[in-house]
Amino acid sequence: KPQLLIDTDPGVDDALAILMAHAHADVAGLSVAAGNVGLAHTVRNARTLIDLVGASTPIFAGCPTPLVRMPEEDAAFVHGKDGLGDVGFPEPKAQAGDEQAALALLRLTRERPGELTLVALAPLTNLALALRLDPSLPERVARLVVMGGAVTGHGNTEKVPAEFNVGFDPESAHVVFEAFPQFDLVDWEATLRHAFDETEFNHWLVAGDHRAVFFGKVFQTARAFNLKKQRRGVIAADALAMAVAIDPSIITRSENRHVAVELDGRLTRGATVVDWAGRLGKPVNARVVLDVDQQRFAAMVRKALGAEK
Ligand code: BDR
Ligand code: CA
Repeated sequence: KPQLLIDTDPGVDDALAILMAHAHADVAGLSVAAGNVGLAHTVRNARTLIDLVGASTPIFAGCPTPLVRMPEEDAAFVHGKDGLGDVGFPEPKAQAGDEQAALALLRLTRERPGELTLVALAPLTNLALALRLDPSLPERVARLVVMGGAVTGHGNTEKVPAEFNVGFDPESAHVVFEAFPQFDLVDWEATLRHAFDETEFNHWLVAGDHRAVFFGKVFQTARAFNLKKQRRGVIAADALAMAVAIDPSIITRSENRHVAVELDGRLTRGATVVDWAGRLGKPVNARVVLDVDQQRFAAMVRKALGAEK
């Protein structure tokens, strides 16, 4: 089984990814970031999710703000004010530990050097802090998989051609992309190519167990938002990144390139720069995941919802 350490800002698609992780892998911990909504909400949502899967996964609260600049917007208009569709879940039983997320990331990777795949599903603030405290972190992880970036410049933030996780805290993404010699990048545009058919997805929600019931509830706000945006199908960015983390053999098309983040830019702060033509003279740091086997991705999601046939 894969051994995962997940940094997350739940978040509706984070929720699906966390369900997948607990169905297919061992999860060493959840470090929680601010992003989709504020930290108090994302931590509480992580606790709700751990109750749901009946696990004892440790939870660690991270940094409440980006490293440098407060962004103008979060993603409450997609995920709901509380980040999980404003369903109104009761106070969760699972508790977050006292340790700061960045310190927990360092400790857990020291305890299990070379074993853990780090899965980054949120703005990269916690990882950047951990790297500044201890630059040897990359040597201790088996792999890093990042959901982030918009490699053809479309993106999903409202004002800049950027992807949300990178656009929310560009400096942190910069620190992480510079520090890791090799990581898998699952970007927003790959996500759009790997949406699920609505009708099929609805069948899984009906066929599944309590996890499907839960997801059916939290998913309504995001679904309405996507309809408004005229996006077709069920888009779950973090779920796609999680599939790549759980089993990289699911990748069917990728390109090895140097990936960087624009930190200034009159129009482009937070944009992802993929050096497609190799002009920057910098070493490859990323495997840019372009496509995965959609059938296998779907099977992973079905199992996580308890809807396997
Ligand atoms: C990413 O941003 C968040 O809104 C999602 O949870 C995902 O991690 C997609 O751009
Ligand atoms: Ca996320």
